[in-house]
Amino acid sequence: MSTTLLLPVLLLAAMVASAESLTLKPGCRPSCGGVEIPYPFGIGQGCFRPGFEILCDNNMAALGNTGQAIEVFVLSLSVTPRPEARVMVPVTWQCYNTSGDPIDWYIRTVDYNPAGVYRISNTRNELYVLGCNTFVYTNGGPRGRSTYSYYTGCAAYCDNAQSAKDGDCTGVGCCHVDIPPGLSDNKMRFTEDPNWSHSGMEFGLCDYAFIVEKGSYTFRAADLGMDGRRTSKPLRLDWAIRDSNGSSLACAEAPTMPGYTCVSEHSECVDSTNGPGYVCNCTQGYEGNPYQRMRARPRKEFPCNGICQDIEGSYNCKCRPGYESNGSPKENPCTPKFPLPAKIAIGIGLCVFFLVVGLLLAFIVHQKRKLAVHFEMNGGNILKKVIGLAIFTHKDLKKITNNNSDRLGNGYFGEVYKGTLFDEARTIVAVKSFIKVDKERIQEFTEEVMIQLRMAHPNVLKLMGCCLQLHIPMLVYEFAAKGSLRDILHGKKQQKLTTKLRLDIAIGSAHGLSYMHSEDIRHGDVKPDNILLNDNLIPKISDFGLSKLLNLGEKIAKKVIGCDSYMDPVFKNTGLLTPKSDVYSFGVVLLELISRKQIVYGPNGSLIIEFRHIYETEKSGRSMFDKEIVAQDDILILEEIGKLAMACLKEHQDSRPGMIEVAEQLMKLRKKTLDDASNNTEMGATADATLSVPPSPISDTTRLIHS
Ligand SMILES: *[C@@H]1O[C@H](CO)[C@@H](O)[C@H](O)[C@H]1NC(C)=O
Ligand SMILES: *[C@@H]1O[C@H](CO)[C@@H](O)[C@H](O)[C@H]1NC(C)=O
Ligand SMILES: *[C@@H]1O[C@H](CO)[C@@H](O)[C@H](O)[C@H]1NC(C)=O
Ligand SMILES: *[C@@H]1O[C@H](CO)[C@@H](O)[C@H](O)[C@H]1NC(C)=O
Repeated sequence: MSTTLLLPVLLLAAMVASAESLTLKPGCRPSCGGVEIPYPFGIGQGCFRPGFEILCDNNMAALGNTGQAIEVFVLSLSVTPRPEARVMVPVTWQCYNTSGDPIDWYIRTVDYNPAGVYRISNTRNELYVLGCNTFVYTNGGPRGRSTYSYYTGCAAYCDNAQSAKDGDCTGVGCCHVDIPPGLSDNKMRFTEDPNWSHSGMEFGLCDYAFIVEKGSYTFRAADLGMDGRRTSKPLRLDWAIRDSNGSSLACAEAPTMPGYTCVSEHSECVDSTNGPGYVCNCTQGYEGNPYQRMRARPRKEFPCNGICQDIEGSYNCKCRPGYESNGSPKENPCTPKFPLPAKIAIGIGLCVFFLVVGLLLAFIVHQKRKLAVHFEMNGGNILKKVIGLAIFTHKDLKKITNNNSDRLGNGYFGEVYKGTLFDEARTIVAVKSFIKVDKERIQEFTEEVMIQLRMAHPNVLKLMGCCLQLHIPMLVYEFAAKGSLRDILHGKKQQKLTTKLRLDIAIGSAHGLSYMHSEDIRHGDVKPDNILLNDNLIPKISDFGLSKLLNLGEKIAKKVIGCDSYMDPVFKNTGLLTPKSDVYSFGVVLLELISRKQIVYGPNGSLIIEFRHIYETEKSGRSMFDKEIVAQDDILILEEIGKLAMACLKEHQDSRPGMIEVAEQLMKLRKKTLDDASNNTEMGATADATLSVPPSPISDTTRLIHS
């Protein structure tokens, strides 16, 4: 088998008409009793070639021209690839009485051949003889040395009634022989030789003889007694285009003679192998009826409606994936397993799926790249080398802030969220967004982060880490639970504050600021908002150094810092930020602490102007002090703080005390309150847990207050 046949086979799969319908002569009965009648066979005038008539009585097809007495029923007729007629022929038989005389028989010769077209197929049939003392032969062919040129037959013998065995046809009750070609009838000769007489036999009194298609008969011992009248056997007849008068043509001359019968395109002449004459065949690769004037079509040699595949000695035929056939695709067409709409739905579904997966991947890659780019932009490559700085990923940060679920408020540049680190102490932190960092600001930003990291003082808010993967860097600070001094004094967390507490807050803040100044850092934006208080009300200076960064982008600086009232007028005029500028701002904070008034209060009250005014006119700030503490007999202390604030607010920077002096002065006042307290009560030193800084040597700075 060759795969080159695949193409015609596939082409044929599209053709629906059956091969049989093409072999029929148009206008003639196509079949009789289920038997197809292909031309040159035919029923009725003009439908058959002479010699090929088929009779159709009672829906039984029979050969015409066989003599009137015997009907040879037709099983099937074929034209190509083998010209053949399968027919049913009655068996020949003869029975004897015990004297050995024939008493009944059926020895009618079937003459298939008035027109000479049929021969008994010598390759497909064999001769069987059944009997217990018999020799039967047949003969045929033209006259030769004897009357015929062929004689063939065999003898069957039984020693007793039990000799014959089922399935054993080797001479005991049954014999069989091949037959020669050219036999044109089923004439059987039962020898009358006395040596084969049945006289005196008690068994096997009937003899039978028949030519039958090979493989279709198996001998049974019981058949030695069968009723011959009712028994027919199948026989195969070869046929060819030939004449009875011996003038049959062979292919050597037939095609050039009038009446040549291979009239179809793609037909060829083939010499008959069983008797004279010729047959027509389709040429290689075509099929159809070569005896009819029509176009033969490519042979459907290996019927397959799907995909054909060669295997040794045969072939496989499978439907394409997704297709199935009702039964075998060799016979029935393949149809889609899924209806078209389902296919379309699946197709669209798959497309969408892959699209989504693709987009998702692209998105993930993009996000990763974005994180990396931001990290780089935000100076990550420099900062990752800084010892002691925790660098959090975007993911870490999300976990730390529990997805920004606890918002604390607004910082300079965005919202501030509360979070919890995953360390053992589960440290609570505040996460703030910082200013957007661009190429020019990378250095300032990284320096700023390093400075903040270096600031290690109990009164300076501690930087704990940062995250650089977002387009704006996020900084992680220690958490100040009580909020800002502004919140406590004026805002939502307002609470009762004793003079001592206010002093402690002032002292802590002053220590934080003086520590910064000692490290050559200026805050630039000292105000109650930037003094945060932890659980124990210990102040923490925050948001320092921002002004430096902000100055780089002037517009933002003006907009964000905005609150001029705390700003040193000298700084405002010169743009030069000195430690004394922080001292000025801290003076304002001190005024707020003792008065609990906002820097701008009422319709047009200014804390600084009011205080200056009453210190000039009344030499006392009493009228401005917070009523809550005036009652506490702390007036003297408050007056001292007020005077210190006034000193801080001096116009000339040189006249202002340094931050360290401010801190010392406040410490001194604090000591005084403690002394007073120990004098008044036996409890001595009041709970000093709120004192956040270790006592430092107190120098005499009163001159500053009185100057
Ligand atoms: C056998 O048949 C022949 C002829 O019909 C007859 O003469 C003979 O008597 C028969 N023998 C027996 C035993 O019937
Ligand atoms: C029958 O057989 C015998 C011997 O077996 C033989 O002599 C005789 O010729 C044979 N008869 C015929 C008619 O052949
Ligand atoms: C043989 O018969 C055919 C018709 O069947 C006829 O045409 C042809 O002449 C005959 N040939 C002879 C030699 O009689
Ligand atoms: C007809 O042709 C086919 C191959 O095409 C071949 O198998 C077959 O034997 C041929 N028939 C005869 C009668 O030669």
